[in-house]
Amino acid sequence: MPAPSSLPFETRVWPVKKLKDFYARSIEQPEEFWAEQAHKLEWSRTWDRVLDWDPPFARWFVGGKLNASYLCVDRHAKTWRRSKVAIYFEGEAGDSRVLSYSTLHREVNRFASVLLNLGVKKGDSVALYLPMIPELPVFMLACARIGAVHTVIFSGFSAQALADRVGDVGARFLVTADGAFRRGKVIPLKATADEATALSPLIEKIIVVTRTGMPVNMTTGRDLRLDDLLANALDHVEPVPVEADHPLYVLYTSGTTGKPKGVVHSTGGYMVHNYAAYQWVFNIREESVYWCTADAGWVTGHSCIVYAPLAHGAAIVLYEGAPDFPAVDRWWDIIEKYGVTILYTSPTAIKMLMGHGEQWLARHDLSSIELLGSVGEPINPEAWQWFYKYVGGERCTIVDTWWQTETGAIMISPAPGIECVPMKPGSATLPLPGVDAAVVDEAGRPAPPGQRGYLVLRKPWPGMLLGLYGDPQRYQAAYWSRFPGAYNTGDYAIQDSDGYFWMLGRADEVLKVSGHRLSTAEIEAAVATHPRVAEAAVVSREHSTKGESIVVFAVLRDSAIPSDRLKGEIADHLRKAIGPIASPDEVDFVTRLPRTRSGKVLRRVLKAVANDTPLGDLSTLEDEASVEDLTRSYRQLKQERAKA
Ligand code: WTA
Repeated sequence: MPAPSSLPFETRVWPVKKLKDFYARSIEQPEEFWAEQAHKLEWSRTWDRVLDWDPPFARWFVGGKLNASYLCVDRHAKTWRRSKVAIYFEGEAGDSRVLSYSTLHREVNRFASVLLNLGVKKGDSVALYLPMIPELPVFMLACARIGAVHTVIFSGFSAQALADRVGDVGARFLVTADGAFRRGKVIPLKATADEATALSPLIEKIIVVTRTGMPVNMTTGRDLRLDDLLANALDHVEPVPVEADHPLYVLYTSGTTGKPKGVVHSTGGYMVHNYAAYQWVFNIREESVYWCTADAGWVTGHSCIVYAPLAHGAAIVLYEGAPDFPAVDRWWDIIEKYGVTILYTSPTAIKMLMGHGEQWLARHDLSSIELLGSVGEPINPEAWQWFYKYVGGERCTIVDTWWQTETGAIMISPAPGIECVPMKPGSATLPLPGVDAAVVDEAGRPAPPGQRGYLVLRKPWPGMLLGLYGDPQRYQAAYWSRFPGAYNTGDYAIQDSDGYFWMLGRADEVLKVSGHRLSTAEIEAAVATHPRVAEAAVVSREHSTKGESIVVFAVLRDSAIPSDRLKGEIADHLRKAIGPIASPDEVDFVTRLPRTRSGKVLRRVLKAVANDTPLGDLSTLEDEASVEDLTRSYRQLKQERAKA
């Protein structure tokens, strides 16, 4: 574990009194504490009870009613903030749009009217497959306004991945764009949506946003241009107050099986928790210019681009394109152009930009930056130091924020909005108020300081998922069965003697490639649909920028002849099946996969081969394979790989 560095902020007094007191109260009197936070929002009806906890199902603010779009736009459009900037939009080609809160309010109303005119009702699912353009947050808020439930599907996903998600959530309405700009190319989104619709025939209406002006096929009666629909839209649609546990959205994420999980978030608990956590972590002020570089297709985009910042009336930057287009200083250029004060990004992006060198930053004035944030993967101390020194000019706090799609809000992070704690590069520091995090051993007992264990959460929290869409058993099994009474995050962690948390990556079969969650099972299933593949196993390999990369071990069908061309074909097949984020770094052909007697694939053997590391300690054979089996498989696989 890296030692605390000798940075100037380490001279602060420790322990930090204000934060400790605040935290203690949140754990000792959680209901009073969260009710206080909830009063910071506006409710159409106040709750009767703060929490109904029927483990593992929590209902927060029972009886309360509110509307998320009201909180994010109406509340500001009623005040002086109507002329404040809500969104600075920067297109990849350099085009820009500035939306004030009053413009955002009008747009959300008009888009909501479009949805109502099409027959969308409270509780209906609306799938959003859009690039990072203002229409995406506007549609999210328009759904929330009328009580419809949005499901955003990352625009980098393939037709199959889109069809699976749309089919699972049962969406009859899909919003997409003609195309998207990416690294100067035009990506045909509508064409992919058409392919997905052929696979998932539930879709009745497709709304098409014009972004690139490229030609698209329009199916009469099904496909409609947004511009035509807006011609008949009203400027005002009353926000519908919904019950606190009415779903705000379903967002798909990867789990340990091949089927993606539809994480369902509530409206009341989610908004309360996000609103509070966002303030604690980012210390947002009226004059802040906040830029979160995530794609809105992930939870970071939902909570930390749309719902929390807008509920705070913040000015946000929304950037459509790639970080290195047209040149590798594009981000530094954007920071200078808009005077960004808070930059929230991922370790993968930091490592990539670090690779291009500091000379690109030196050309820009980054003095507006006050706070830096990181999310999605563990940040290594070298990247942390670079971020601190070159981007933050050695004067900014870095908030390393740990959370998950399922937690809804940031859970473990420094909280400069309450009180600064001494930072330790590479540690997410301490749990935020209301978060009872612990590291436990195999048996669920608290692990001693410095010992690796499983990260669990021992109390329900308002932002927690309501469940998995249509699958309460899977919800229970995936999160609440491994350690009775506690939520299993699926992460390994260490807590040091100061109580700081050090995240050590996933303990399950979930990969984190450039911060994107992918499941080995989902990739394996996709590889296995290639006509020349008999079966496949997928493991991760450590990667210097992406965190983890994908290595595929494939057993070919008898008739197939191994070749580099076939490896390329399998890689293409995977990109097509899931999307470019699932591109493998390496495809290896093997004659058989190492297995236990009960048929389970021995991943640790594959992982050791892929990473070129020794097989390691064989004393704990939880895989019910003998030491001889393991070493024989290891030797054999290494030989096959070396030959190839
Ligand atoms: C990982 C992203 C280390 C972790 C918001 C978690 C992190 C998974 C951090 C959730 C961090 C997220 N340090 N690891 N600061 N933040 N993770 O659902 O493995 O896409 O379980 O949510 O990302 O990924 P998800």
